[in-house]
Parts: sequence; C-alpha cells; structure tokens
Amino acid sequence: MALFLVTARISRPLAQLFVKAPQLRDTSTGLQPFPGFCFSVLSLRCQRFYGTEAEAGKRSVLITGCDSGFGFTLAKHLYERGFIIYAGCLLKEQGRGGCKDLDNMKSDRMRTLQLNVCSEEDVERAVDHVTASLKDSQGGLWGLVNNAGISTFGEVEFTSMNTYKEVAEVNLWGTIRMTKAFLPLIRRGKGRVVNITSMMGRMASPARSPYCVTKFGVEAFSDCLRFEMHSHNVKVCIVEPGNFIAGTNLYSPERIKAIADKMWDELPEIVRSDYGRKYFDEQVAKMESYCNSGCSDVSPVINSITHALTATSPYTRYHPMDYYWWLCMQVMTHLPAAISDRLYIY
Ligand SMILES: NC(=O)c1ccc[n+]([C@@H]2O[C@H](COP(=O)([O-])OP(=O)(O)OC[C@H]3O[C@@H](n4cnc5c(N)ncnc54)[C@H](OP(=O)(O)O)[C@@H]3O)[C@@H](O)[C@H]2O)c1
Repeated sequence: MALFLVTARISRPLAQLFVKAPQLRDTSTGLQPFPGFCFSVLSLRCQRFYGTEAEAGKRSVLITGCDSGFGFTLAKHLYERGFIIYAGCLLKEQGRGGCKDLDNMKSDRMRTLQLNVCSEEDVERAVDHVTASLKDSQGGLWGLVNNAGISTFGEVEFTSMNTYKEVAEVNLWGTIRMTKAFLPLIRRGKGRVVNITSMMGRMASPARSPYCVTKFGVEAFSDCLRFEMHSHNVKVCIVEPGNFIAGTNLYSPERIKAIADKMWDELPEIVRSDYGRKYFDEQVAKMESYCNSGCSDVSPVINSITHALTATSPYTRYHPMDYYWWLCMQVMTHLPAAISDRLYIY
C-alpha cells in the first residue's frame, strides 16, 4: 500500500518523463536507441491490447460532432474501415468546419447531416433521413457514437447557472436526446451505443464542476441503458478519454481567455472582492497549463471507439489516457477520499 501511495504521488513527474520518451528516436537513422526502454514506456502509457475484432461489413454508424476533434478523425477512420458513415455536423448549413472536408470526399458512404444535438428539429430530421436511407441498405443502424460536446471551467462560485445549463444542454441532454431518438433503429439492428464521456466523468476535479456534472450524468445514463439493453442484445460502451486537448478543438488559448473575461465580468461583487483578481488569474493560468499538457495524438481514443464498435465482446469502459491520469483515476475511484484528496487535491 505504501508503495502504491508513493507511486501515485510521484506519477506526474514520471508521466512527463514517459510522454517525452517516444521522442528518443534518432531522426537521422530512424532507429530507437533504447528499444527496451521505449517498449516499457508504451506499456506504461496504459494502452490496451485488443483481441480479435469483427469486420465492419456494410454497417452504418452515426457520429455526432464531426466538425472537428475526435468526431472528425473517427468519421474518416471508420470510413476507411468500410463503414457507412452518417457524420452529424453542427456547422453543415453554414458551410464551415470539417463537414466541408468530409463532403469533399464525395463518397456515398460518407454522408454528412446538419445536426445540432440540442435541436429537436435537427434530431427528428436526422432520424427521418437515416431511417429512409437504411431502407436501401441491410439491417438497422449499427452504431451511434455520442461524441458532440463542449467544455468550460471555473470554480462553483465563479460559474453562472447559465453556464451550467449551456454545457448540460449539449453534453448531457444532447446525448440523451440523440440516444432516445435513435434507439429504435439501434435496437432493431442489435447494434451499439458508444458514449464519449471523460476521465472527468469518473473523478471530479476542482474548477471543472460544469463539465464534470454532465459527464458523470452521461456515465449514469449509460449504465442504466446498458442494463436495459442487455436483453435486446444492444451493447452500450463508455469511452473516458484523458487529456487530449492538444489534439482537438475543445479549448484554445483564445477560448480560455474569452471564458475567463466573461466569467470575471459576470461575477457577483461579493465573490470578486473576496477571492480577488490575483487568485482568479492563478486559476485561469492553471487551466491554460492543463490544456497545454495534453496528448496531441488522438489515436488511443479512436482505437477505443473502433474496438467498442467492432469487437465481438466490447468493454464496458475504455480509458484512453496516459499513465499519470490512469493512476490518478485509480486512486480517486478506489481509495478512500481521505487518502486520495490528500494525494491529488490538497
Ligand atoms: N479533447 C479532450 O481532451 C477530451 C477529453 C475527454 C473527453 N472529451 C470529449 O470528447 C468529445 C469530443 O470533443 P473533442 O475533444 O473532439 O472537441 P472538439 O474538437 O471541440 O469536438 C467537439 C465537436 O462537437 C461539436 N458540437 C458542439 N456543440 C454541438 C452541438 N450542440 N451539436 C452538435 N455538435 C456540437 C463541435 O462543433 P463546433 O466545432 O462547431 O463547436 C465539435 O465539432 C466531447 O464530448 C468531449 O467532452 C474530450
């Protein structure tokens, strides 16, 4: 136990060492000078090794949030695996975002849809469209990947009710709306629902409550759905990525600044004067450094989602994240709070 606690405590410096390790490649020869070391590094980064997978065939998968990030990369990846893709894009009607690139593929298997997961109208239209086109192909819908999401930060006292509602509208209610709308098609196809939550859906974090409550909510929703769908042979999987902000559009320095400025302007006077600008700026700086420390290679997330859609026996939960966050999550979820809080929070 003592060893475990010490390892947990020093896991951040260790993780930083490990994240740098894959760069130990001699660029002139392309050789890795310490292959043994690099092998252990990869193992320690907690990537799962997957068993045999079933092939895509002519199966159809609908993915939300395909304008950027995981959704965009996943749409192209699953297309290459042979799936028929329905790529839900928030910006299709505006002719912006990754939707344009997906449309430019000009393939009958890559079908983009205008889809704001907060809009009943968009969702109903998407159901009608997919239902009509499935009639032409075999079976029901194989996969629904609830990926669309937004994020924000701020301590509870800094966060307005409107912010809590805005984030929940997309991440939580959007996921539930989409799932309820497409479940009949998935149930008939004996398919899969894959919900993208986050490590923040398993362990809470200071200054992330508006995001955490939505991801914890999707975890609960997914667990209930998994129990209910068991007898229908529909599998429900949860993917809990760690920090991949450097590889997606979830945050940018401009977005962090915009959120911070708006938050400060809207703070009640009592909160502003009690905490002070210095403390507020320190919290914003912590968020900036968190965003800069993430992994830019999103392939662990894409591989996890692909496994959830293709494996004969997919996992209930996937944890694509680096060693530091994996260990942190184990500590936070398995040890008593009196210990884990001391290790990671205070
Ligand atoms: N990146 C990470 O480190 C990380 C870690 C854990 C979990 N996640 C989760 O992974 C998912 C994908 O995020 P990402 O990191 O790939 O970020 P991203 O690049 O910002 O992708 C999110 C996508 O969702 C779209 N979207 C936002 N609101 C929407 C709405 N109302 N209806 C439909 N689409 C909407 C966004 O469109 P616009 O670009 O037009 O806004 C964007 O294309 C999210 O659920 C996020 O919470 C990400």
